[in-house]
Amino acid sequence: MGLTHDGARGLQVESVALEDIAERFGTPCYVYSRLALTAAYVGYRNALQAHGLGDRALVCYAVKANSNLAILNLFARLGAGFDIVSGGELARVLAAGGSADKIVFSGVGKSREEMRAALEAGIHCFNVESTGELEQLNEVAGSLDRRAPVSLRVNPDVDAKTHPYISTGLKTAKFGVAFDQAFDTYRRAASLPHLAVKGIDCHIGSQLLDPAPAAEAADKVLGLVDRLAATGIVLEHIDLGGGMGIQYRREEPAPATADYLAPMLVKFASRRESLIFEPGRSLVGNAGLLLTRVQVLKPGAEKHFAVVDAAMNDMMRPALYDAWHDIVPVATVGAGAAAMPYEIVGPVCESGDFLGHDRSLALQEGDLLAILSAGAYGMAMASNYNSRPRAAEVMVDGDAMHLIRRRENVAELFALESVLP
Ligand code: LLP
Repeated sequence: MGLTHDGARGLQVESVALEDIAERFGTPCYVYSRLALTAAYVGYRNALQAHGLGDRALVCYAVKANSNLAILNLFARLGAGFDIVSGGELARVLAAGGSADKIVFSGVGKSREEMRAALEAGIHCFNVESTGELEQLNEVAGSLDRRAPVSLRVNPDVDAKTHPYISTGLKTAKFGVAFDQAFDTYRRAASLPHLAVKGIDCHIGSQLLDPAPAAEAADKVLGLVDRLAATGIVLEHIDLGGGMGIQYRREEPAPATADYLAPMLVKFASRRESLIFEPGRSLVGNAGLLLTRVQVLKPGAEKHFAVVDAAMNDMMRPALYDAWHDIVPVATVGAGAAAMPYEIVGPVCESGDFLGHDRSLALQEGDLLAILSAGAYGMAMASNYNSRPRAAEVMVDGDAMHLIRRRENVAELFALESVLP
């Protein structure tokens, strides 16, 4: 994410020292780089352009990965569309200046209120996951005297070979319409008066490093599109979801965007449909870090603990998925202490509250650490567990730092609550 190490100033994002951000906004604090966010988006656009698909492809950023308004606004300015999964995300995208006609609405359980709001906004497409949902959407659209644009999310039964919690394309998953029922479900959709069948979508999982499963899913989807066309159901767009993985460990590089997408994109040269992607993690993950300060060093009988001021409520991925995030010191290395293996843990009262196991670091109390690759599913999944106010968020742009979400204060945490009369 444009991280550099300056001897005197320590770790920098673009031209801003993390020390300065901590001093001004405190810790824990999420820090994002405008340059890195832009580069990730441009990586998608360039790959599409290189395959002659620039004019008929839409990159719909998956808002769930990080829904801060400044990030949504940045992608909207770059021309992105958005993939949303709730009425809340719809409201955010519109508030951030996103165009409704570039929004696709995913998710296995949309409420009627959410359907109505999205229809009234005029979104590009509903990604529908069941016959029940088709019927409900038909009713809601009818009550507004509209036709809802729909795509069916099909489940191609492809093993994405990723963490079971973020694998979604197997038969056993709750997601999508089973592949062998898709044909009949399309016929049902086409028969409903207030629906307009527009496309097809699939999403087989997240943090995928091998392009083969996604390419296999694309083949299955294209086969179905051709079968449907033969019966008169002609689709305008094909949405291949998100899922491209990123680098979380220095030793485990992720594929370049162009290389990951190429096996899918080559299939479109000879086709007429337009193409949609729904990337989340790969647009924001490596463009953000979580800045935290070591509160206390606690030598134990078997392990040494570094208790930092960020915790599982700020970033759940380690606790929830046993995910690895590289953790690096902000100051110039070796400020007096010797490197030793540390458990990097937060102050929350749970043994699962860790941010990294067995990290070899030279630490002193008060040191700043950067937890890397935290731009995706970091702040978006944060909670107030243990009545901890959520962290501040800062966007770096060249030599400027912008506060894009101020730190919550404690009074706000219980402002919505009341005691019995
Ligand atoms: N489209 C659909 C329908 C999805 O369900 C998802 C993610 C995406 C797009 C974006 O996928 P991405 O490009 O980010 O892989 N909290 C987990 C990840 C959950 C992903 C859920 N769906 C994590 O922290 O790893």
